[in-house]
Amino acid sequence: MKEVSRVCVVGGGTMGNGIAHVFAQKGYAVTLVEAKKELADKALATIAKNMDRQVAKGSLSAADKDAALGRLKSAASVAEAAGFDFAVEAVPEKLAIKTAVFAELAKHGAPGAILATNTSSLPITDIAASVPNPERVIGMHFMNPVPVMKLVELIRGKKTSDEVTAATRALTEKLGKVPAVANDFPGFVSNRVLMPMINEAILCVQEGVSTKEDIDVIMKLGMAHPMGPIQLADYIGLDVCLAIMEVLDKGFGGEKYRPAKLLREMVAAGKLGVKSGAGFYEYPKK
Ligand code: CAA
Repeated sequence: MKEVSRVCVVGGGTMGNGIAHVFAQKGYAVTLVEAKKELADKALATIAKNMDRQVAKGSLSAADKDAALGRLKSAASVAEAAGFDFAVEAVPEKLAIKTAVFAELAKHGAPGAILATNTSSLPITDIAASVPNPERVIGMHFMNPVPVMKLVELIRGKKTSDEVTAATRALTEKLGKVPAVANDFPGFVSNRVLMPMINEAILCVQEGVSTKEDIDVIMKLGMAHPMGPIQLADYIGLDVCLAIMEVLDKGFGGEKYRPAKLLREMVAAGKLGVKSGAGFYEYPKK
């Protein structure tokens, strides 16, 4: 497989900018594509801010930060990134939006380019069905915050080739991350295990088993998790948690995967967690 040097990241939200950040830091030329140039530029400004954090902590030198930023370009269409060897899509979790992006990626990549999706729960096989070469499509599920978290869950769609899986695994390692492979089942491994835990913690709040604070203390200190499940739900986004629970519920059925009523109510009320300023906890603007 051709050596990867040019990368296209589509989507400049939390995941997309984190993914572009890591590729640029590791020496790849990255074009970050957003719906509008201003949005792509805003994502690059966020990357610069997050790299400043690493410089302040001493984990990145100022010279390496400048070099990484020099490898990043903003764009308002996939066509502007034409000729990329590897693409990662990180747009909102709606199949129609993703398949439209994949149709563009299939047109503009270099011959044999790998097309990865950062979806957290949509079937890779369905996304791959929208392109002429589904064997080149793979799930590459980064964890938030991307520059910090070591895991990348790689998901093989029904048609993903062994060659593409091996090349993506090798690339993940070059990014300083640890790959782990799952097959294309609802929620893959990470969210099939994580989300029912979060949903159960929300049920504990709903039923008055304990306060959100004590549930978080129990899980954080008792199980050595970096964050309690309620705090983590706010961090991930309650809308994202609900969408993933719905995928599990639809895929497997049964009470085990039914989203908590309280989770639905929070999302309906616009309390989405850190990103909306309030979820289970309050996040006043700094
Ligand atoms: N960019 C660069 N560096 C960042 C960063 C970012 N966006 N966010 C945090 N950091 C760095 C900090 O600079 C700091 O660096 P040092 O270790 O060098 O000091 C380090 O990360 C720790 O950050 P903080 O000191 O600010 O705070 P913390 O110690 O409380 O850690 C945390 C924050 C890393 C988020 C930690 O609480 C944690 O690991 N939480 C759990 C996160 C998790 O579970 N993520 C997975 C969510 S599920 C998912 O993503 C998939 C899905 O599909 C839903």
